[in-house]
Amino acid sequence: MNYDPAGIRYLLALESSCDETAAAVIDRERHVLSSVVASQFELHRDFGGVVPEIASRAHVRRIIPVIDEALQQAGVTLDDIGAIAVATQPGLVGSLLVGLTAAKTLALVLDVPLVAVNHIEAHIYACRMAAGRDIFPTIGFVVSGGHTNLYDCRSPTEFELIGSTIDDAAGEAFDKVSQILGIGFPGGPAIQRHAEHGNPKAVAFPRPFLHNDRLEFSFSGLKTAVLYAFQGIPGSSAAPEPQTEQRIADISASFQAAVVDVLVSKCRKALQQRDRKSLCVGGGVAANKLLRAQLEQMTQRARVDLHIAPFALCTDNAAMAAIAWEQLDQGKVAALDVDVTPGLVRLGRPQPTATEVAG
Ligand code: KG4
Ligand code: ZN
Repeated sequence: MNYDPAGIRYLLALESSCDETAAAVIDRERHVLSSVVASQFELHRDFGGVVPEIASRAHVRRIIPVIDEALQQAGVTLDDIGAIAVATQPGLVGSLLVGLTAAKTLALVLDVPLVAVNHIEAHIYACRMAAGRDIFPTIGFVVSGGHTNLYDCRSPTEFELIGSTIDDAAGEAFDKVSQILGIGFPGGPAIQRHAEHGNPKAVAFPRPFLHNDRLEFSFSGLKTAVLYAFQGIPGSSAAPEPQTEQRIADISASFQAAVVDVLVSKCRKALQQRDRKSLCVGGGVAANKLLRAQLEQMTQRARVDLHIAPFALCTDNAAMAAIAWEQLDQGKVAALDVDVTPGLVRLGRPQPTATEVAG
């Protein structure tokens, strides 16, 4: 499609990759005129995790009211919208399809360009949004319920995956450990709360891959170590310590300290290996207070600029899909038959970029 990027004033961005239905209106200067997020937290809480079918159905019910609300809060109408951005990868297939279908319909009806956004790259771009200025080149770190990915970001449209988890994501580990301890979902905030009253040195949990230079993470062994610490080692004659509130607090604090040590150490190694002086951190786990504090310390020592997305931009939202402006300016527009790419991004199995998928 022919379009003049300079003639576009407002972008409408949609996000429905997992369990938040979100829409935002962002202008060319990256001002967020509105950012509406409808969380499905209460729908999935009793299941201890996101149920894909429930998520898709909730997106279908909510996407139009959320778009209406975003337009209204921004004080614009659909006629003012010059482009539609939507997260097409990665995520739950049914959830992604709801956002993409809404986005395609709007692009077709309004006759405006459609931009396919990579949700993970958008999490890193959230830091650019918060900074209000260019922050590239940078190391990008996305640490969420589905991903623990390190990127070397040469520019807002050139992301190279340089590290990821070989099993569970960090947020997934928080959620599973919280389930083991019986303290609620989502696990991150629950563990952080309990950890405040606990001793981080009470249990010496493993810190997987801490001492090697590979930018790989692994959290499934740590999760098993928590299970054994809390419930006892199967077949062992030694009785586990009583499952008191204090024991839960101590295990929470010790687990959180182990995860944070590994996350911070790998960020430091990525910065060194790629000789970068900027670090951007996004995704739900970036809301963790201990992680934020230790990243501050590490980057101060290394004289590196740290950009952590503010709380509202850490968890899933559509404002971070403002990365679509960068794609629009380079003519990277999706065709109307673009599909979703649900698969997880894993090292060694390169994922096409949103633009490549768009063709
Ligand atoms: O980015 P996000 O909202 O969704 C995904 O794309 O996954 O991240 C959700 C994850 C959950 O696993 C949740 O437990 C974790 O972020 N999380 C936290 C905290 N707040 C949310 N983990 C640790 N500490 C927190 N304060
Ligand atoms: Zn996310």
